[in-house]
Amino acid sequence: MSGAQQYKTLKGMQDILPPDTFLWQSVEQTARSIFSVFGFQEIRLPVLESTGVFSRSIGEQTDIVEKEMYTFTDKGGRSVSLRPEGTASVVRSYVENNLHNLPSPQKFYYSGPMFRYERPQSGRFRQFYQIGVEAFADPHPRMDAEVILMLERFLSGIGLQGISFQINSIGCEQCRPGYRDALLSFFSGKADQLCPDCLRRYDRNPLRILDCKSAKCIAARSGAPRITDHLCDDCRQHFGKLQELLNMLHVAFTVNPEMVRGLDYYTRTTFEVTSQGLGSQNAVAAGGRYNRLVREFGGPDTPAIGFAVGMERVIGLLKQSAAQEWPAPAVFIAARGEPAGTEALSLAGRLRDRGLWVEVGDAENSLKSQLRRADRISARHVFIIGDEELKSGQLRWKNLHDASQGVIMMTEIEEFISGIC
Ligand code: HAM
Repeated sequence: MSGAQQYKTLKGMQDILPPDTFLWQSVEQTARSIFSVFGFQEIRLPVLESTGVFSRSIGEQTDIVEKEMYTFTDKGGRSVSLRPEGTASVVRSYVENNLHNLPSPQKFYYSGPMFRYERPQSGRFRQFYQIGVEAFADPHPRMDAEVILMLERFLSGIGLQGISFQINSIGCEQCRPGYRDALLSFFSGKADQLCPDCLRRYDRNPLRILDCKSAKCIAARSGAPRITDHLCDDCRQHFGKLQELLNMLHVAFTVNPEMVRGLDYYTRTTFEVTSQGLGSQNAVAAGGRYNRLVREFGGPDTPAIGFAVGMERVIGLLKQSAAQEWPAPAVFIAARGEPAGTEALSLAGRLRDRGLWVEVGDAENSLKSQLRRADRISARHVFIIGDEELKSGQLRWKNLHDASQGVIMMTEIEEFISGIC
């Protein structure tokens, strides 16, 4: 190769670097511990699947499938796609591995990268990470409430503030066709008032008009029939019971009859968590019930519900909301010269065996530059080893956080450290 090539991440993709990765790990850790106490177990699935896994479930005519999938033909001539979301893969796995034979309900969580070829903007990426959960085989609104409660516990557990829950019911195969007809007749004389996207949606999926952000469509849909007025008895009861349970569990929510999700597989309950702090891409997490999907994938009739959290959005909010305290080394050992450098290595090993984060200075560098590094990386304690210290068996120490300092026998360091860390 001639000349230096400057490679950059692809548009809509980003590197996640320290110290942000500490924040990511802590959010993931909180998710794991909260999901575990609710009985959700981890599954790990491929990022690449047959294209049909997504097109069949998310819907051929959704934005995700029509415009946003990373789809290509592999070397065996198969059409494959990078997963744009996790639910379809979980359902594929559930059916393929006969997970319905496990004791019911079966509850899973997953995390990892998803891919959508969207127009990148703040909070919207082409590779983004989700943490999601899916619970199978429990049709009762108690499961809806439990899943929403778990999401609320997770978001408050990581310290997110200023978020609100919106819920809706989009009915089932019994009542949605009637609602669709009511919408079609409402919009039938208003074609000229709709944006070009919604004009297409009118024939294919008129519910999506309710979700359009264009000012034209917002005005055109004023007075449109509401799905919540068209629910069949079973769906109305399910939705009513869910609200009763959420109130009982003290999960604050509002009902938003205009919230229709951009994926076709939902039935009954849908929900979204939004945050003021996020601008137009304000959904932090979203989910809902999908009672027909397992059967459509060839499995037994199995109701299911889940959600996914957008990690970049959560992390962005956490970074906005408070100054983060990044983890820092407990000990920095500054050593000067060859024998001291060797001693530093051995001491560092002993302290690391006790679970402490220890950094060792470069013994070839001046003490001054080693101490500057200790300061820059916010190490708490510095130990200094030089020829004199080796002879005397005594070390100088300094606490960089409160500027206290002193001298300690080399043989007593472990005891000293366990008293202060
Ligand atoms: P979704 O609404 O498509 O639902 O995505 C869930 C969350 O992922 C969004 O609320 C948002 O926080 C995040 N997200 C989506 N697209 C992007 C993007 N381009 N950049 C950054 N973050 C994004 C689902 O994916 C469903 N599978 C959720 C579900 C699980 N429903 C039932 N179970």
